[in-house]
Amino acid sequence: MEERKAGGETGRNARAGWLSAYAGAAMLAVIVLLSACGAADGAMRTRAADGEQVVHVFSARHYEGDQLLFERFAEKTGIQVREVKGTAVELVERLRAEGGEANADLFIAADGGVMEYAKRRGVLQQMRDELVERQVPADWRDPDRYWVAIAARARVIAYAKDRVAPGELSSYEDLTDERWKGRVLARSSSNLYNRSMLASFIALNGEQQAARWASGIAGNLARPPEGGDIAQVKAVAAGVGDAAIVNAYYIGQMLQSQDPEEARAAERLGIVFPNQHSIGTHVNVSGAGLTRYARNRENALKLLEFVTSREGQTLLVQESFEFPVNAEADMPALLESWGPFKAQPVDFAAMLDYSDKAAELFISAGWD
Ligand code: FE2
Repeated sequence: MEERKAGGETGRNARAGWLSAYAGAAMLAVIVLLSACGAADGAMRTRAADGEQVVHVFSARHYEGDQLLFERFAEKTGIQVREVKGTAVELVERLRAEGGEANADLFIAADGGVMEYAKRRGVLQQMRDELVERQVPADWRDPDRYWVAIAARARVIAYAKDRVAPGELSSYEDLTDERWKGRVLARSSSNLYNRSMLASFIALNGEQQAARWASGIAGNLARPPEGGDIAQVKAVAAGVGDAAIVNAYYIGQMLQSQDPEEARAAERLGIVFPNQHSIGTHVNVSGAGLTRYARNRENALKLLEFVTSREGQTLLVQESFEFPVNAEADMPALLESWGPFKAQPVDFAAMLDYSDKAAELFISAGWD
């Protein structure tokens, strides 16, 4: 299988184009798309009634807004979306074990490394769809056509506005400084968001530097890692620590939350897109690919066409606060307010290739 080369010029330029479309002015941005959000396997297999048009989705995304997207698609096309949720690896292994018996047409995950994993495990098939290829820039698509990105996310630093001065933090490395001892919050290193971030750091900065960074963070933690990104935001708001490493979209989701505690916590935090004067902010993607034995292939492609359309992307990012891959999409005011940012060049194959090494470095660092 042909593998994608890290940091290639073509990729760099194409990705820069996307970011510039969003961000304006010159930037060397390269973006990665990944996503892996754990969720219980609510595997409920449903069979289509006679004549009913369906598409079966195996999804490792865990955002409520996806349901709205699927409902809108059903309204427009009459095609019902049946969704099975699970962790990314769980779903890939299930696709592999069930083979042609699997009731799945589209696989969706929130991590580019996992999409690469699904491709290498042989559970996806190549797809050619002119509309999808027009809507998603080349650099947001697997070069071998096994999957495409449907949204991008940035892993940023969220800080307590009342305790951290603007300009005090500008890079991931700042958080390893002595001044931050006992003030940093981060979730477990077993989480895919952290794993892929460190794997990217290894690819970009080398193993030694990545190891130093992980040790520096582990040594500055305010408490042993616990909870997800939302829990880190709440802990900063509660004064457990002063800054946390989180995906930016959680701030948007929390500000919109029906839970007043979440909204209040997010209001107290500011965010920094780190490393704007060096390597850029770590980015990852959510991706989608046609399963190898898809029975509702045409419907799955129609869903993918919708999800990557201007309408689908606008709806998706309105709910999830990720960044759209289709530059025509409208973004929520909050995303616009964050302004342009420089993203790290990221490579999905490298993200997967260095994943085990990242886990090893986290263990050595004492980042549980
Ligand atoms: Fe997430």
